[in-house]
Amino acid sequence: MISLSGIRLWVMPTPTRNWTPTHGDPYRTVPYRPARMPAAESLARAAELRARMDERRTVRQFSTDAVPEQVVKDAIACAATAPSGAHQQPWTFVLVKDAEVRRRIRRAAEEEEHRSYAGRLGEEWLAALRPLGTDEVKPHLTDAPALIVVFQQRYWLGPDGAKRKHYYVDESVGIAVGMLLSALHLSGLAALVHTPSPMRFLGEVLGRPVNEKAFAVIPVGYPAADCEVPDLVRKSLDQVMVEL
Ligand SMILES: Cc1cc2nc3c(=O)[nH]c(=O)nc-3n(C[C@H](O)[C@H](O)[C@H](O)COP(=O)(O)O)c2cc1C
Repeated sequence: MISLSGIRLWVMPTPTRNWTPTHGDPYRTVPYRPARMPAAESLARAAELRARMDERRTVRQFSTDAVPEQVVKDAIACAATAPSGAHQQPWTFVLVKDAEVRRRIRRAAEEEEHRSYAGRLGEEWLAALRPLGTDEVKPHLTDAPALIVVFQQRYWLGPDGAKRKHYYVDESVGIAVGMLLSALHLSGLAALVHTPSPMRFLGEVLGRPVNEKAFAVIPVGYPAADCEVPDLVRKSLDQVMVEL
């Protein structure tokens, strides 16, 4: 265990550097011997984390106030520590701060959402959304000072056009986005997972390569002063956990 500005690190960090594909590399190891956390500390941390995570809510009304950019970048770096199928790290996070680009994304998203709410979703889907109060107007895309647009790399694309299969892309990116949302929340920022359907326009507006498919647009910022959220109830632990 080492101590860094009062933060206790239980293991050495995994090095981050410009990654190159490890496809076909031999198996190599480094020691991983974290100090065992005392049970009392584990319990205290787990209880605190549970309470903090329970405070997270999806925000749809954002303040236009700026957020500290490094907090957002640190959260993206946290997301990029996620486990991934065959360690292929099949994600790209596009951080959009530019107001004009956010306006273009909003225009294109609202066009798609208009078609969705005008009939494409169908009555069953609309009924599922009703308690959330969502509609085709998406002010969060321009009010929030930053958008993180998450892309899945459906396959690896080499500089010479070579392609290689990526494994468990949906699962890997879903886990990374969960870690992103947790990091943003625990750092004091609010977020929304927005999934306009279809999302092809995001790759076009942001000029992403053909192997990338948009996964979600995540506006990030502070809740507006008069922010309200739907009155939701979460399932109890008994309802989500089966103990054998
Ligand atoms: C995969 C996924 C897609 C979502 N898509 C949308 C969306 O397009 N628009 C929206 O307003 N909320 C969206 N949400 C947010 C959910 O509606 C929200 O998480 C849910 O209502 C629970 O509320 P909470 O996050 O405050 O606990 C999405 C969430 C997830 C996980």
